[in-house]
Amino acid sequence: MPNELPSDYADRLGMIYASGVSAEHKKSRGQFFTPTPIARLMASYSTSRGASVSILDPGCGTAILTSALAEHLAKNKSLRELHLTAYETDVNLISFSERSLAYLKQWLSDRGIVLSYILCVDDFVLQHSKKNSESGLFDIIISNPPYFKLTKDDERAQAAKNVASGQSNIYSAFMAIAAQQLRNRGEIIFITPRSFASGNYFKSFREYFFSTVDIENIHLFVSRKDTFGRDSVLQETVIMKGRKCKGNAHKHKIALSSSHGMKDIEKPSVKIYEASELIDFNTKEKMLHLPTTEEEERVIRLFKSWDGSLQKYNIQVSTGPVVAFRSQQFIYEKYRNGTVTLAPLIWLHNVNKMMLEWPLEKPAKGQYINITDGSKTLLLPNKDYILLRRFSTKDDKSRLIAAPYFSRTTKAAFIGVENKVNYIYRPDGKLEKEEIVGLCALLNSNLFDTYFRTFNGNVNVSATELREISLPPHEQIKYIGKTIIDTNDFSTTYINELINEIFELNHITYE
Ligand SMILES: C[S@@+](CC[C@H](N)C(=O)[O-])C[C@H]1O[C@@H](n2cnc3c(N)ncnc32)[C@H](O)[C@@H]1O
Repeated sequence: MPNELPSDYADRLGMIYASGVSAEHKKSRGQFFTPTPIARLMASYSTSRGASVSILDPGCGTAILTSALAEHLAKNKSLRELHLTAYETDVNLISFSERSLAYLKQWLSDRGIVLSYILCVDDFVLQHSKKNSESGLFDIIISNPPYFKLTKDDERAQAAKNVASGQSNIYSAFMAIAAQQLRNRGEIIFITPRSFASGNYFKSFREYFFSTVDIENIHLFVSRKDTFGRDSVLQETVIMKGRKCKGNAHKHKIALSSSHGMKDIEKPSVKIYEASELIDFNTKEKMLHLPTTEEEERVIRLFKSWDGSLQKYNIQVSTGPVVAFRSQQFIYEKYRNGTVTLAPLIWLHNVNKMMLEWPLEKPAKGQYINITDGSKTLLLPNKDYILLRRFSTKDDKSRLIAAPYFSRTTKAAFIGVENKVNYIYRPDGKLEKEEIVGLCALLNSNLFDTYFRTFNGNVNVSATELREISLPPHEQIKYIGKTIIDTNDFSTTYINELINEIFELNHITYE
């Protein structure tokens, strides 16, 4: 194509390649090519002005990111040399990567800029463990890494262990290793799912990354569908640009922008935040909040003003110990008595907002569990609890769905809680009724759901996230509980009205 830009050429090669390989080929390699508008947006975050710039593009595909970055850097008239190191493991793709880089080399040469490159047909993560000593090499690292889960014993998880232990996904291994290979003040630009923002799996990654890199720009794609629409990647995605820092006090600012997808990518709304407003530097979790509306911002401020927590109120949250497929011999569909002693077994579908619906028959979800010597370690004493779903579906309006459980539900001495349900309890005592209803109401409120969504972009609700959540003063929680009990109105409409009134959020309309 006449005068075709290298990024457009790389995009065309990518589309040709992608149309010739199977969905399984792409999935197993985490191979989804970046559309050109996104590649250009990512490149535009670089402010590098050097005459000679070294670039790393790990998981380069057809080098669309390098191409877009080179086009951006070439606007700087003093640029003379680019030195690229790229990694790609898909051997069938390499001839496409080569073609793209040859085209880019010529394009740059026509502008008086020399491109030298090394294309490593190697695993970026495994290479890192061998090349540890070469860290601190690059001025700019740009990447759309593969995304897929790594098991603990995967050799790539092992290789990345010194920069971020307990890797749950290959993309965070890429990011952590990249941060290590950046020179001081060098730039890192990644597009990834937003799942690293919270949760236990990414905790050590966040600790390492946020203490090594000052985040300067974040762009959030609010719609799951639009970003990589042609590859149907259903993930909420973020672009993050940062700068390597050494021992800084996190006093920098972050420009947070968002767009629904690609259509409105060129005119995103941008807001500047203090880094400490978005990243919880002072907590162990180091969660990253990504508010996209003023309401969400106000809600984050309100939570930051609270210093209560489950731990402070001597309340614990744990995951239901009954793993159904391992406990089949103890589970019963129908109530029976005489030869067995049955207790209620609570599943996810029994837990609704402010209401436990048990028994509620559903195929293969037996509502009873046998109390025997073999099952006792799986059972909980029959006390009062709050039960909370660990997963919501994409169609659920709310991520947090909690029901009070009162011991009067059954005469049995124990109850079973299935593994997709979390339970909240006081380890060495009991929860008061007001506490249960008050906390349950807060968890089910629009207020908590809105807060939760600012850091959690998926459908899981982990016990760790709940342990870290800030809570209002204990007395206020009990007051909410008492008011609901006194009015005997457990509807979500009333709960939201009450909570909005108490926290002076009346004029907030949640999305
Ligand atoms: C999400 S794609 C992105 C490709 C390209 N950077 C782009 O933006 O279009 C990730 C690429 O990384 C490659 N890849 C997967 N695992 C890798 C690894 N361990 N080391 C290097 N490359 C890898 C895949 O084959 C794939 O081409």
